[in-house]
Amino acid sequence: MKYSAKSQRATEHKTDCIVVGLYESKELSPAARTIDRASDGAIQSVVDSGEFDARPGSILVLRNLPGVASPRVMLVGFGPSAKLGARTYIKGIVATTKKLTDLRLVNAALCLADLNMKGRDMTWKAKVIAETLADATYSFRQLKSKNDNGAATLQRVDLLIGQSRHVAAARTGLRQGQAVGNGVRMAKDLGNLPGNLCTPTFLAKQARGLQRSHGLKVSVLDETQMKKLGMGSLLSVSRGSREPAKLIVMEYQGGRKGAPPVALVGKGLTFDAGGISLKPPAKMDEMKYDMCGGASVFGTLLAVAELKLPLNVVGVVPSSENLPDGAANKPGDIVTSMSGQTIEILNTDAEGRLILCDALTYTKRFKPESVIDIATLTGACVVALGSYASGLFSNDSGLTKAVLNAGERSRDRAWHMPMWDDYQSQLDSNFADMANVGGRDAGAITAACFLSRFTADFAWAHLDVAGTAWRSGSNKGATGRPVPLLTQFLIDRVERTRRR
Ligand code: BES
Ligand code: MN
Ligand code: ZN
Repeated sequence: MKYSAKSQRATEHKTDCIVVGLYESKELSPAARTIDRASDGAIQSVVDSGEFDARPGSILVLRNLPGVASPRVMLVGFGPSAKLGARTYIKGIVATTKKLTDLRLVNAALCLADLNMKGRDMTWKAKVIAETLADATYSFRQLKSKNDNGAATLQRVDLLIGQSRHVAAARTGLRQGQAVGNGVRMAKDLGNLPGNLCTPTFLAKQARGLQRSHGLKVSVLDETQMKKLGMGSLLSVSRGSREPAKLIVMEYQGGRKGAPPVALVGKGLTFDAGGISLKPPAKMDEMKYDMCGGASVFGTLLAVAELKLPLNVVGVVPSSENLPDGAANKPGDIVTSMSGQTIEILNTDAEGRLILCDALTYTKRFKPESVIDIATLTGACVVALGSYASGLFSNDSGLTKAVLNAGERSRDRAWHMPMWDDYQSQLDSNFADMANVGGRDAGAITAACFLSRFTADFAWAHLDVAGTAWRSGSNKGATGRPVPLLTQFLIDRVERTRRR
């Protein structure tokens, strides 16, 4: 998809369809007013007659209006104008995208970035438009043998901006939104691929692809190398699988050489059957999504590289399967992690923390300024927060604030959870330094507590994305979250240093 932003009158711009927003208050937005005047009141008349009531997400397409260069004008409802918030705004853009796709149009011009919203600037609005368009036109059809022609036709979208002094900010937003959109698309594609195709080896190949296309420095550690490093915890998980584990390391250098990087560590469990602590069959297919944390690291690095952000980022993705097998972990087994700490594996289904702990210890060698891990770690987090917010746990208040803010701005929100020392004792083991599970209570928190024992040396945040990384049910599919949050965090990180 191609995007542009320019300052041109809605009546003069020629494209397949001009899209203008309307409010329930019947007050016309500037673009709607321009078209209304040129067309002898065509918009006012459908508003006055009640044919179009501007409820959020409502749509009416008018054709061949006099005085308008484009053949179609699409009216989109944004509800009562005083209350226009991000949710309604996005709803309107999704409805617009669906209608443009239904009409099988190729080009469109949106006059929607001029709608007023409290606390939201032009860059934000343009970014949201580009991200939402990418999201709403996504479909995963690469494994269908027949092309069912449902693919989106839209190729070119122009933003028409009322005042020329806002055009530069709109272009910045479009550029950011497009990069995030591409990162989200990559994360969704990797997530939606099934476990028989998306293996640790396949993920390693994807990293090599980013090396070729975007110049990332990539290295992939195999099991022999991990063994030498003493990653006994990670390797205990992959021992029960025929697919060899990989530790994928991707480095993006946009900042000064030697400047401490931000490290992103993503759980890349390509299929989680639970191991000997086998999961029940219902919805077990969805455990192909257990690598979505890792996928978000790929997607974020892609977005950062496209934006050429001036900072250093390292992505680390420990990747393995978790299956039952004669060589698999057994409840009660004790393993030694790369940190030297020993772990009693009471439940082989709590494998995410077992591969993450060694990856986090490994990440120390990059001397990171901060580390964020992203993992579909616990069903308990889904119980606590549902599918709207990712769980955020951290040992650093500045990092916590920055992640929460990035989530708020990108509409990819996280919620701060407690990680008080009180919870740590749930991990006590009679036989090893710690157990890998802490019982039923506060399951998302004790999982974070487990990881905290490997991250004391740096500023660290943990995002549990078990409820946000994919949708279940008839709309099943990866969401690409938290690529928007992570990319925003890194964009903000650049802004913060600029101001200093
Ligand atoms: N990948 C799962 C977490 C998960 C489960 C995410 C369901 C989304 C939906 C993880 O490896 C796991 O199995 N966690 C266990 C931990 C428990 C054994 C302490 C869980 O949540 O049941
Ligand atoms: Mn598991
Ligand atoms: Zn898992």
